Amino acid sequence: MNATGGTPHGPGDDTPDRAQQVTGASGVPAEQSDLPNGPVQPAKKPSVVLGVGGGIAAYKVCDLLRRLTESGHSVRVVPTAAALEFVGAATWAALSGQPVTADPFDNVQEVPHVRIGKGADLVVVAPATANLIAKAAHGLADDLLTNTLLTARCPILFAAAMHTEMWEHPATQANVATLRSRGITVLDPAVGRLTGADTGRGRLPEPSEIFAISQLMLADSAARAAGQSVADLTGKHVLISAGGTREHLDPVRYLGNSSSGKQGYALARIAAARGAKVTLVAANSELPDPAGVQVVPVTSTRDLYDEITGRAADADAIVMAAAPADFRPADVAEHKIKKTEDGAVPAVSLIQNPDILATVSHDRRRSGQVIVGFAAETGDADHSVLDLGRAKLERKGCDLLVVNDVSGGKVFGSDINEAVILDRDGNAMPVPSGSKDALAGVIWNLVATHWH
Ligand code: CTP
Repeated sequence: MNATGGTPHGPGDDTPDRAQQVTGASGVPAEQSDLPNGPVQPAKKPSVVLGVGGGIAAYKVCDLLRRLTESGHSVRVVPTAAALEFVGAATWAALSGQPVTADPFDNVQEVPHVRIGKGADLVVVAPATANLIAKAAHGLADDLLTNTLLTARCPILFAAAMHTEMWEHPATQANVATLRSRGITVLDPAVGRLTGADTGRGRLPEPSEIFAISQLMLADSAARAAGQSVADLTGKHVLISAGGTREHLDPVRYLGNSSSGKQGYALARIAAARGAKVTLVAANSELPDPAGVQVVPVTSTRDLYDEITGRAADADAIVMAAAPADFRPADVAEHKIKKTEDGAVPAVSLIQNPDILATVSHDRRRSGQVIVGFAAETGDADHSVLDLGRAKLERKGCDLLVVNDVSGGKVFGSDINEAVILDRDGNAMPVPSGSKDALAGVIWNLVATHWH
């Protein structure tokens, strides 16, 4: 425990650094293991169509294309004519290694307006402009991309980007609702600086976010194709905390911890990709907002307490991945605390903060609600890590506790995590070392079993 009483990097965000074993969102191995009888079958490269709309954010899609090709996907870029005003065909062709055209009459003997869509495992459209969303919603097919959208039978992901007024217009909102009702995933635009000097909702979600969600969609469709069940979070509202709280001593100084927020953000990203309505209460994290997630920024443990307890009655699940400070200074100086001539050191007295996880667990406001806590433990001479985890599960009153063993100087703050998940029936489920997205997928699978 550090000066603030929280674990140094956050219960959910502290991770031992181990070799990776990556699994998909639904816990499906990303790479197939050797078959018991016979040679390993070379995995077919997932075939992705990357549709590019005519918006200024088209240049950011070059980064998305790089991520897709470097992780082994075969990518066919299909821009609109307007997209080519922003980034030329030569750039897309060089980065993808495939021919690029917006015109369905190019190489017409190969019937590209049908073949490209039918052969895709995933279609990603970024930036999805208001015009492109409208055409897709109404089934128009006047270029290669809109033809492809009508012939594709695979999952489709739209990453919207446009000016705030265009996004908020009832026509666009109705078109987005139409696409979603057909099972198409539409990522809301992110909030931030727009093309000009103005700011608002309209930016393209970060390419890293679009990439992560496209990976989840591919993993989920592979799981479905293999007849494996994919827990579905559609219709559920989940409330997640992430990051480390800060307790101010004066206007410029605070007691805090270095929680990265990565595990909480991964939980939010995966839940949104699996159809949940997600509210992420984020304490002092610098990570980009996950696409399609409502992010509520907070500073202190009491702010976090107010936001979580105030929203608890509407949540089907609450996951406390944040590292809230257990203590705060009894007094906060109105002005910056100055050094004195005599070298005297100010005494800081601390008082205890409320325990958010224990509060929402013991004061349940909604039936069927599932509450998940995190714990980073080292164990001691008399107690194993799991003993301490079981005692904490009991004390806090949550349904699941994700326990990280942080003994032996294991490295904190990495992109991977390894844990044991305890439940109230005494089960202990080890989750091998893997990405934080993978751990998030396992946690949501377990939460979903409580609902079904
Ligand atoms: N937590 C909380 N409110 C607090 C402190 C912690 O809701 N004031 C939550 C964390 O988000 C986490 C779980 O409780 O999900 C366990 O956090 P941890 O710091 O391990 O627990 P503590 O109660 O502080 O116990 P310890 O004495 O082991 O530090």
